[in-house]
Amino acid sequence: MATRVGSELNTCIMGLAWGDEGKGKITDLLCPAFDFVVRYNGGANAGHTVCVGDRRFALHLLPSGILHQHVTSVIGPGVVVDPTALLGEIDALAESGIRAAENLKISDRAHLVLPYHKIEDTLSETAADPSGRIGTTARGIGPCYADKMRRTSAVRFADVLSGDGWSDRLRRIVVGKKAMLTAMYGEDGGLDADSIVADLGRAIERLADHVTDTTALLGDAIGAGRRILFEGANGMLLDVDHGTYPFVTSSSTGAHGVAAGAGVPRTAVSHVLGVTKAYATRVGSGPFVAELVDETGDLIRERGHEYGTTTGRPRRCGWFDAVATRYGVRLAGVTDIVLAHLDTLSSFDRVGICVGYDCDGEILDTPPADAARLERAKPVLEFMPGWSEDLRGVRRFEELPATVLAYIDRVEQLVEAPVSIVGVGPERTETLLRGRWRSILETTASATANES
Ligand code: GDP
Ligand code: IMO
Ligand code: MG
Repeated sequence: MATRVGSELNTCIMGLAWGDEGKGKITDLLCPAFDFVVRYNGGANAGHTVCVGDRRFALHLLPSGILHQHVTSVIGPGVVVDPTALLGEIDALAESGIRAAENLKISDRAHLVLPYHKIEDTLSETAADPSGRIGTTARGIGPCYADKMRRTSAVRFADVLSGDGWSDRLRRIVVGKKAMLTAMYGEDGGLDADSIVADLGRAIERLADHVTDTTALLGDAIGAGRRILFEGANGMLLDVDHGTYPFVTSSSTGAHGVAAGAGVPRTAVSHVLGVTKAYATRVGSGPFVAELVDETGDLIRERGHEYGTTTGRPRRCGWFDAVATRYGVRLAGVTDIVLAHLDTLSSFDRVGICVGYDCDGEILDTPPADAARLERAKPVLEFMPGWSEDLRGVRRFEELPATVLAYIDRVEQLVEAPVSIVGVGPERTETLLRGRWRSILETTASATANES
């Protein structure tokens, strides 16, 4: 057995479904107990909401620890960074009085999302057969990760900051991209090498002070026993290796992505918090076995305000998918479940749980690899009594109605992990903790000033 390194509190927060589970809210909530918050995957495709009182912050590239002055926010080497989008986010927060850039560190190994990535993302979606469209966020994520793997056409912060001939190299890359876009889509996307170089130069000038060797920084932090929260983007079912391929994103979204994406030893993570809603949602295309294409689905969407944080698209809604969730729990070694949006399910006479996939007459308890087969699958549903109480005023786990506690018990049994945190509303305070997470937050909250 490898020995754990660093603080025994080091934790990964990750999504257990198709994204938008409420990771941002939980990351922000736990910040009083941590010194660092590190994003390890994805890019501006993420949209993490943090609600404090009547203020609502939508974070895309910035880690969700950014509202806490004692926290160092780190964008790791595994994140693909659109420098213009990042600056836009920093400036928007500045207008709200949040000095986001103060404690921000960006890995010099992180790859850059450039205009041609976003153009290719859009053109490839438009050109695809409707049934083959992924429904991406059009943030250039897939094309940028593809360049990273291709290597010869990739650009990292370190390449630009080295100062040696990066602009000539970028111009050559743009020439190649124009030729590729023209060959594949019949247009060159209107790319102009001079303006791409000039815009990037200006953006890097503003970001340069924050770009550093975050691998060394986190190595030292681990050595010093500082407490680190690793914040995942997207969700387990969108993982490039383990999700509902090809309807996935292009990175390793779960705890297995932390070591590579944050630049830390694999033994640096002690706890894995798997976040999921008390029902399921998905934006974009792809199989969704527990989907409710009916009034119940519409009701969940309206009650849960299920519209994308990044794109504003309506989210597809369905019952809680225990098959998909257990798959993610097992794969990522989830130690605790966060069950969000229990309040949204109030007023349903009964609530459904998908406990199996009926695939061509065979009942499966784990998702098959073949997307077409998964698309044909029907949910095997079980129903539990619903609850009518408004949960938003509840502040202690023990005060939850018996029907809600029974639902939580059933979720724990089915997904094989304890539910330690539940959400009863979007606001920071609308979160109930039990067990070790309650005591961790209670002991550290008093010691660490909450700075938002
Ligand atoms: P993330 O991408 O995982 O951070 O999640 P998003 O921010 O994209 O979407 C989650 C949405 O649900 C946001 O609007 C949150 O404010 C909201 N939210 C999170 N937890 C709860 C909860 O327990 N109840 C309710 N009603 N809303 C919640
Ligand atoms: P957060 O971090 C929800 C989905 C897109 C699309 C697929 C591929 O807020 O949970 P991409 O732009 O990554 O190539 O799109 O993945 N997707 C998300 N859905 N929440 C996200 O992030 C997502 N990030 C990507 O809708 O179906
Ligand atoms: Mg989101």
